[in-house]
Amino acid sequence: MTDYERIRSEISLSDKRMKHTEGVIKAAEALAGRHFPFLSSEDVRVAALMHDFTKEYTLEQHREICLRWGIPMTPEDIEKPKLLHARTAAAIAEHTYGLNPEICSAVRWHTTGRPAMQPMEIVIYFADYIEENRVYPACVKLREFYEKQLGKRKDPSDALLRAVAKSFDITLQDLIENKELIDQTTVEARNYYRRLIAEGGLLT
Ligand SMILES: [Fe+2]
Ligand SMILES: [Fe+2]
Repeated sequence: MTDYERIRSEISLSDKRMKHTEGVIKAAEALAGRHFPFLSSEDVRVAALMHDFTKEYTLEQHREICLRWGIPMTPEDIEKPKLLHARTAAAIAEHTYGLNPEICSAVRWHTTGRPAMQPMEIVIYFADYIEENRVYPACVKLREFYEKQLGKRKDPSDALLRAVAKSFDITLQDLIENKELIDQTTVEARNYYRRLIAEGGLLT
């Protein structure tokens, strides 16, 4: 049995979340094929399948995983458990399934993003944002922006870089509009990618 088959048989998500996960798998395969063809397609599929593994866990379930594997929980995590799922899913990817660090770190950073993301991290972070089932206005906006950039830029990697930078702007605007807390890493990532574009740097 492959890791993908095993996780697939053990994952427990609502129909809605599973549909989203399917969308992320499809988008991640397409993004990896276009931008990072050297990535293992099996690993891309496994990371996409794993990314929201604990998204529907209760705070108690998250707490149990954090205690078991020594993951620090901050007061913000308790206030906003939404961000915990990336860390608890990454812990399960590592400890329960023994997945490689590239996959675990893509799961770990899929929600906030981070500065200088690695190819697998970019693929999962970005696929999660733009997958075809997403109807949230911020997601639609980014998906359209990315498609427009692909048509406009000669280098697809330049299109992706601009779309990744844009994603953080959109997220921050959205969080402010909704009076939500902002994770520091998202701010750092936003500055990193804006600076990278200003300096004419490359995505990876
Ligand atoms: Fe997520
Ligand atoms: Fe997701």
